[in-house]
Amino acid sequence: MKFLIFAFFGGVHLLSLCSGKAICKNGISKRTFEEIKEEIASCGDVAKAIINLAVYGKAQNRSYERLALLVVTSFDELQRRASEARGKIVVYNQPYINYSRTVQYRTQGAVEAAKVGALASLIRSVASFSIYSPHTGIQEYQDGVPKIPTACITVEDAEMMSRMASHGIKIVIQLKMGAKTYPDTDSFNTVAEITGSKYPEQVVLVSGHLDSWDVGQGAMDDGGGAFISWEALSLIKDLGLRPKRTLRLVLWTAEEQGGVGAFQYYQLHKVNISNYSLVMESDAGTFLPTGLQFTGSEKARAIMEEVMSLLQPLNITQVLSHGEGTDINFWIQAGVPGASLLDDLYKYFFFHHSHGDTMTVMDPKQMNVAAAVWAVVSYVVADMEEMLPRS
Ligand SMILES: *[C@@H]1O[C@H](CO)[C@@H](O)[C@H](O)[C@H]1NC(C)=O
Ligand SMILES: *[C@@H]1O[C@H](CO)[C@@H](O)[C@H](O)[C@H]1NC(C)=O
Ligand SMILES: *[C@@H]1O[C@H](CO)[C@@H](O)[C@H](O)[C@H]1NC(C)=O
Ligand SMILES: *[C@@H]1O[C@H](CO)[C@@H](O)[C@H](O)[C@H]1NC(C)=O
Ligand SMILES: *[C@@H]1O[C@H](CO)[C@@H](O)[C@H](O)[C@H]1NC(C)=O
Repeated sequence: MKFLIFAFFGGVHLLSLCSGKAICKNGISKRTFEEIKEEIASCGDVAKAIINLAVYGKAQNRSYERLALLVVTSFDELQRRASEARGKIVVYNQPYINYSRTVQYRTQGAVEAAKVGALASLIRSVASFSIYSPHTGIQEYQDGVPKIPTACITVEDAEMMSRMASHGIKIVIQLKMGAKTYPDTDSFNTVAEITGSKYPEQVVLVSGHLDSWDVGQGAMDDGGGAFISWEALSLIKDLGLRPKRTLRLVLWTAEEQGGVGAFQYYQLHKVNISNYSLVMESDAGTFLPTGLQFTGSEKARAIMEEVMSLLQPLNITQVLSHGEGTDINFWIQAGVPGASLLDDLYKYFFFHHSHGDTMTVMDPKQMNVAAAVWAVVSYVVADMEEMLPRS
């Protein structure tokens, strides 16, 4: 009954648009059915105009086109086809070049799609290999640009949609997404240290992050980095050693959410920055290491090369450039020497931020070697008479 009344009012409203006259008062029609039929007939021209526009005219196929998505392989292609993106879901099927290059599509894809009027974006997982595995990760919005929904899809689905689109097949996708942003809550960095015997105020910091992405267990990213850092202190303790400088372990919280724990630690501790000799982070897997990546002065690099020569028995002596890590970059940018573990990255982006990041990926023998490298470097630098020179 309610439905019938509603339908009736709806009809009245439409008729009033055609005739320009109000025909009902207090919800009760005073018109006869004949009069109503006349009203409807007066809309004939409007109906014809709509039919011509929708079925034969300029608007023909428009709702279908709007529904179908647009597949592009690059931001350049999106720019070239910007006029086709309005009102659509944009799918990025960018090839994997390397992580730092390709991850731009995940971090910026929604912003770039929204700028050309897209309603949502889907991003091919940033992964060097896939067995139908979606890989998630951080993504950014920009002030003044609509915050459209965005999600990662598998490499396989992105490629399939790309093939379908290239054959002229229209693809329609219904997005059902359950992602939510919850209010911030308290979380903590975990800190442990072996206090220095001679220069306790001076610090060598060794670290990994405790949090992981919402898929997988985070065994590789960054359980491995966290646990070889812990192991470095355990090995030194087992051997009854105590370096001159404090060897501090930090297991960062909320790295994946944007280096939140690291930023807080930096704000609290930067007052003592002049007493930080070296900051270290392992956050690119603990597969078989081949050396260190290091950022610091030439003098400091020469010292690090000597330190690494102690690892000749393991043939792990390389000191490359670009020592870095989300959690230690605050210190490195402020001039503190920084080191990260250089290991075999071959498999890292197979599993990164996917359900595949589990203990199955981890190899105890490779972790033994990674922990040995980590412990030798952190202990020797902490035990040297002088801090690493900054210039
Ligand atoms: C509308 O779609 C039909 C079916 O795909 C197609 O044959 C027709 O050419 C399209 N019309 C325009 C104007 O694109
Ligand atoms: C990633 O690829 C780009 C483009 O080929 C290149 O310029 C850049 O140096 C590469 N980065 C790394 C870390 O290999
Ligand atoms: C800074 O170092 C001094 C000793 O040099 C120490 O007493 C103080 O607790 C340190 N501050 C922080 C925030 O670590
Ligand atoms: C750095 O450590 C030295 C002793 O090793 C201490 O005298 C000095 O106060 C410390 N500086 C800061 C900023 O904590
Ligand atoms: C030692 O390591 C280097 C560089 O990682 C590698 O090229 C070389 O083959 C290794 N030598 C042995 C004996 O394993």
